Amino acid sequence: MEKAQWSSHISFIIATVGSAVGLGNIWRFPYIMGKNGGAIFLLTYLLLIAFICIIPLLCELFIGKIYKKDTVSAFAEINPKFKWFGWLCIITVILIPCFYFVVGGWILNYIWIFLTNRIPDNFAQYFSSFSSQVTIPCFLSILFLLMTSIFPFRGVNKGIEKANNIMMPLFALMLIIMAVYAVTLPGAKEGLTFMFKPNFSQFNSAMVLTALGQALFTLSIGMGAIITYGSYMKKDTNIIKSAYTLIFFDTLIAVIAGIMIFPIVFSFGVTPSAGATLVFISLPEMFAKLPFPSITGLIFFILLFFAAITSGISIMETAVASFINQFNVSRQKATFILSIIIGIITIPSTLSFGLLSDFSLNGKNFFDFLDYTTSNILLPFNTLLICLIAGWCIKGLWKNEIGENFLGYSFNILLKFIIPVILIYVILSGI
Ligand code: TRP
Repeated sequence: MEKAQWSSHISFIIATVGSAVGLGNIWRFPYIMGKNGGAIFLLTYLLLIAFICIIPLLCELFIGKIYKKDTVSAFAEINPKFKWFGWLCIITVILIPCFYFVVGGWILNYIWIFLTNRIPDNFAQYFSSFSSQVTIPCFLSILFLLMTSIFPFRGVNKGIEKANNIMMPLFALMLIIMAVYAVTLPGAKEGLTFMFKPNFSQFNSAMVLTALGQALFTLSIGMGAIITYGSYMKKDTNIIKSAYTLIFFDTLIAVIAGIMIFPIVFSFGVTPSAGATLVFISLPEMFAKLPFPSITGLIFFILLFFAAITSGISIMETAVASFINQFNVSRQKATFILSIIIGIITIPSTLSFGLLSDFSLNGKNFFDFLDYTTSNILLPFNTLLICLIAGWCIKGLWKNEIGENFLGYSFNILLKFIIPVILIYVILSGI
C-alpha cells in the first residue's frame, strides 16, 4: 500500500499546528500562567520552548521523516528491542483522550446552552450539577469521540487534512475577533500588564517545572503524534524550519488566548488563578455580563471546540496508524476498535465528578488521575526515552540533517546529555 502524504507543505504545517494547539493553549495555559505569576511564567516558558523543547520536537520530526512509519514500527525499526517503547507511546496516546474528550463533551454542552440562549444564573452551581450527572455528560463525551473519529476514519487527505484546513483558519479568525474585543474592555490594561510585565521575585524552581510540563504537553511531544504526522511529510521538507514554525504558531496562539482571557478576567475582578474551572465557570459568568452574551459565549466555545477536535484527531490518528500496521487491519477497522477502547475508558472518567466521585486512585478521582499520570509522568518519561534513543541509537542523525557545524554539535550535546538530565529531574520531582 502506498504511504499517505500531505498534499502540500502548508497542509503539513496546519495539521501539526492543529495537533499542538488545543485545550492546552486555551484552557490550561491561561490558568497555569495565572497561578504562576503571569509575565515571569511567560518569559520562562518562551525560553524553555525555544531552547529545550525544540530538541525532542525535532527528534520526533526526524524519526517521522527518516522511517516514514507509524510510531510502533518506527521504534521497532530503530531496534527491535525498542518496540515496547512504541507501544508505551500508544498507551499514552490512548489514555490522553479519556480525559481530553470529557472536556470536549463539556464544550459541546456549553455550545448548546449559548446557542439556545439558556444561560444559567450561577455557573458555578450549574457546572457542578451538570458535570455530576450521568447520561448527558457521557453522551456528550462519546459524541465528541465519534465526531473526532470520523476524520481518521476517512483517511489522511480526505479526512485529517481537510478538517484541519477548514477548522484551523476559522479557529484563528474567531480567536482574533475575541482578542480584539477583549482588549477594548475596561480591564484590558491591567490584564495586559499582568501578562507582559514580569515580576522577578516570583521566579522559582517549581514554576520552571510547571512551565516545562506545559511546554511538552502543548507541543504534543512524547507520544509519537509528531512522528506520525511527520511520517506523512514530503521528502524535501525542511525539518528545522517546520519545527520553528510550529513553535512560533503554538506560542503565538497561547499568547493571543491570554490576551483574550486576562482583560476579561481583570474587568470583572476575578483572580486569574481561578484554576481549571476558569474556562467553564468564571469566563462564562463574565460572558453573561457582557453585551451580547450568547454571541461571545458561542464564539468562545466554538473556537475551543475547533482547538480540541483538531488535537483529538491527531491523538486518534497516532493510535490508528500503529494499529493498522501492527494488527494488519484496515484504517476503518482500526478506528472503530480504538473508538470502542477509548469510549470504554472515557465513561468512568466522565463519571468522576458524580457517580464515581468517591472512587479514588492515589488520592485523585479517575479523571485527575489520568490527567496527572499522562501529563506529569508518562509525557516527560517518554520524551526522555525519545531523546535517548534518538541521541544514542540513531547514527548520524544531526550530521545528516544539520551538518557538522556549531549548531549540529550544540544540538547533539543538548540531546545526549543536558536534556536527559533535566527530564530525569522533572520526572523525579513529579513522582
Ligand atoms: N497539544 C495538545 C494541546 O495543547 C494536547 C496534546 C498532548 C496532544 N499530547 C498530544 C494532542 C498528542 C495531540 C497528540 O491541547
